[in-house]
Amino acid sequence: MLLLVDFGSQTAHLIARRLRSLGAKVTIVTPEEAYESASVHKPKGIIFSGGPQSVYADGSPKVDTKIYELGIPILAICYGFQLVARDLGGEVVGGKKEYGPAECQMSPSTSSGQAISKGLSNNFVVWMSHGDEIVKLPGGFVTVGSTEHVPFSFAIDETRKIIGLLFHPEVEHTEHGDVILQNFMDYCGIIPENAKIDTNLIIQSIRESVCKSYVIGAISGGVDSTVAGALVAKAIGDHFIPVYVENGLMRESNREHVEKIFSHLGVRADIVDCETEMLEKLQGIEDPEEKRKTIGAFYIEVFEREMEKHVKDGKDIQFLMQGTIYSDVIESKGTKHADKIKSHHNVGGLPEKMKLKLLEPVREFYKDEVRQIGTLLGLPSDFVQKQPFPGPGYGVRIRGEVTKERLEKEKHADRILLEELEKAGLLDQVFISFPVMTGADSVAVKGDGRFFGEVIALRVVESRDVMTAVWSRLPYEVLQRISSRIVNEVTEVSRVVYDISTKPPATMEWE
Ligand code: XMP
Repeated sequence: MLLLVDFGSQTAHLIARRLRSLGAKVTIVTPEEAYESASVHKPKGIIFSGGPQSVYADGSPKVDTKIYELGIPILAICYGFQLVARDLGGEVVGGKKEYGPAECQMSPSTSSGQAISKGLSNNFVVWMSHGDEIVKLPGGFVTVGSTEHVPFSFAIDETRKIIGLLFHPEVEHTEHGDVILQNFMDYCGIIPENAKIDTNLIIQSIRESVCKSYVIGAISGGVDSTVAGALVAKAIGDHFIPVYVENGLMRESNREHVEKIFSHLGVRADIVDCETEMLEKLQGIEDPEEKRKTIGAFYIEVFEREMEKHVKDGKDIQFLMQGTIYSDVIESKGTKHADKIKSHHNVGGLPEKMKLKLLEPVREFYKDEVRQIGTLLGLPSDFVQKQPFPGPGYGVRIRGEVTKERLEKEKHADRILLEELEKAGLLDQVFISFPVMTGADSVAVKGDGRFFGEVIALRVVESRDVMTAVWSRLPYEVLQRISSRIVNEVTEVSRVVYDISTKPPATMEWE
């Protein structure tokens, strides 16, 4: 067993998931629990995750330093490594911040340094996300690899059996990340076990939680709620009442897609039209968090209304099903020391008054695992490979107030972007693509007239696990066609810009 100490990292659960997929058993604990848990359970290895704080900040999470004396190998990542450095006599300063890709140059000089870097190339791309810098390693550590800005990005203390990484081996865009984790498992002497997801277990546990009651379920047409819905439909059949809320903030083609899903699942569904009401509620709201909360609260209100109808029919509804996945949980401060990035409507902002219990069958899984579950359940590929679309929909892609006019423009630009990506055969390779109504105006000259119109930004990224993403290197001709069509066809748009930010630090959505 491996013990993972979660210092509030956005990727702590991802580390666990990578290790599990390599066949390790992983238990996640808080820093406060770490020493006792390690002394009692005697794991074969310990992992310190990253974390959002500085090791010198007041109240930043710490471990009982007796943990270093247990003789159990430790893999300390990012904040975890900074903490080790501070605890064992090294020096950490608020130095050069580094986010996104860097190149790690390997120089292992000892046999254990070589063992832990087995199978890695001399140079490889790693992803950084740290504010503090280690300027002096504690005694006993030797460097295994360095990046341009950080001389000790990868180091080992052979005697104490501690490996420190300032980069994140768990994220998809770090090359050879799995090799590093596998090497650590070998270093700990872990024998891998079979790690396939068992859908029958999930279905069985839904049946046990629900018993004879009814579940009302939010199906949005996205992969997550479709897969969650398919699991619930398989578990309880017509005790599942799926509902689709058409609030006008979804893609135009979505309604038809949802009808296809319902018919595939063989369940009768409610479709509720409430676009006008939604726009009224959003009137005058500019703040992103307030928009999310308004959309979330309204969505629950609609559900409650639907539920009342079914309760009047004599159905004992006790659960609300949602397609929450793990990246939603973590970005909404799902663990003790994690920072809140934003409230995803399906986790934060749920009104207290809601009397239903939540049923979230894919809450523990990442996007690619959810797709895998969908495929294992036999869902068609267009159900499981669909681009994600956030719960608050176009609401978070229109900066500032969402008006009917701006919503029309956003939808029009989105249609153009999708059409052109499809025509160029690029739709399958992108994770997510959308225009953003930036709320910024710029000058343009159309015909003989000069005017100020809104700037549209295009966001097209590639990602698998959602935690990291790179912008798609779209061919210039395709970008040109999209840009020309948008400025010509969408009224009062002055220019189109292409967003070339990686995640981290930039999130995929703009707000
Ligand atoms: P970010 O912007 O956090 O996006 O990098 C990661 C994924 O999450 C989606 N997203 C949301 N989904 N409610 C949702 O249900 C939200 O408030 C929300 N914000 C972002 C985003 O579209 C991407 O797939």
